[in-house]
Amino acid sequence: MDNATPMDNATLTVQDQTLELPLTKGTENEVAIGIKALRPSTGVITMDPGFANTGSCESAITFIDGEKGILRYRGYPIEDLAEKSTFSEVAYLLIYGELPTADELESFRRQLRRHSLLHEDMKKFFEGYPPSAPPMSVLSTIVASLAAYYPVANTDDDVNLNIIRLIAKLNTIAAFAYKKSVGQPYVYPCNDHSYAGDFLHMMFAVPAERYDIDPLLTKTLDMLLILHADHEQNCSTSTVRMVGSSGADLFSSISAGIQALSGPLHGGANQAVIEMLEQIENDGRNIAKYVELAKDRDSDFRLMGFGHRVYKNFDPRARVIKQKASEVLDQLGVDDPLLDIARELERIALEDEFFVERRLYPNVDFYSGIIYRAMGIPTNMFTVMFALGRLPGWIAQWLEMKKDPATRIYRPRQIYTGSTERAYEVIGER
Ligand code: CMC
Repeated sequence: MDNATPMDNATLTVQDQTLELPLTKGTENEVAIGIKALRPSTGVITMDPGFANTGSCESAITFIDGEKGILRYRGYPIEDLAEKSTFSEVAYLLIYGELPTADELESFRRQLRRHSLLHEDMKKFFEGYPPSAPPMSVLSTIVASLAAYYPVANTDDDVNLNIIRLIAKLNTIAAFAYKKSVGQPYVYPCNDHSYAGDFLHMMFAVPAERYDIDPLLTKTLDMLLILHADHEQNCSTSTVRMVGSSGADLFSSISAGIQALSGPLHGGANQAVIEMLEQIENDGRNIAKYVELAKDRDSDFRLMGFGHRVYKNFDPRARVIKQKASEVLDQLGVDDPLLDIARELERIALEDEFFVERRLYPNVDFYSGIIYRAMGIPTNMFTVMFALGRLPGWIAQWLEMKKDPATRIYRPRQIYTGSTERAYEVIGER
């Protein structure tokens, strides 16, 4: 993309060679050293496990300042969007770069409604899964199979149509995955509802009963989806970009992103948090024991929903969600003992030297599950909810990667530490 501002060069001495490397600065003054010339000139590579110091691209979508707890989509603070916007408006903003006019938003919503049905044949895919199938596996594979139904995307209009299809259908796929897991009939999308409202309708309506969508649930879901909508170059987004960098289509790239999100260190943490809180509750609420276990270097146990690669003071999404959790539970009349345990766990951990020293704070996943539970969403669907929210971000990042002339296929290097050359000798019969 090369939109960053050039600065003075940096000088790097490698063994006996001195190299001038370009420094560039983004619009929020983050600085990068360009190392394109490093290996060609010196034969040396950089080593950065987990890519904690590595920029993979320039991006104009999302800005995070992890020290100050700032998160902005296209320049708009997350707190304002979560409070005042809607998920479809935020999706439009992320994907197309600007807030929509009223007409553009209406047209976007109309298109989403129009494409929300799944091809009837796709129901056979759902039927092939065992009821115990994790909904994230179902989500990922059904999204991958969309490439078989809508394979052609040669023009910008074709790509845009597939983007609309994907957003519209992910709602339906997610709800169908749930209905399959509980053995209930699928509920088809309905054009009368908003995106979030339709999801709730497809999740919770049953043929025998009238289902009225609670506006509080719709608003809360919209807010949660907005808070998850993008987070720059995290694990799943980098996966989407990496798969897309080979020229793979949108559906395949997003399907891979869904799989990356499912892990407990990433999106799967929201489910893991509730399982951890339940474990603490069932173990006599011995919170201190679990804090000690998280600190024990011989134990694999971690406080799920705590810590973040980028945020080192607080996660602004967690702040909004924590406040909303109390409000929403009060309004719904839900008294969840897990909320008290979560608050107490946070209080104890934040006073503990181990967590203070390592700057470990509650992240977005710490309180989100408590709200989902209060809304009646089952625990194994929490990460699916994260995927629904993250979809516009993945799409925006995939599109930006495709349009960026600086994009090259993602292909990191390694330092080989295996055997040096050895002679092959046949052992026994071949
Ligand atoms: N509980 C206990 N110790 C922790 C935790 C935790 N949740 N998180 C980090 N640490 C310790 C870690 O053991 C290490 O200690 P030491 O320096 O003594 O070895 C130190 O803090 C640094 O941790 P790290 O693993 O090197 O940090 P990272 O940036 O590689 O990992 C993380 C970030 C989010 C994967 C990690 O904090 C973690 O596993 N958290 C729990 C899972 C979780 O909540 N994930 C959701 C992340 S937010 C949603 C999303 O975007 O996916």
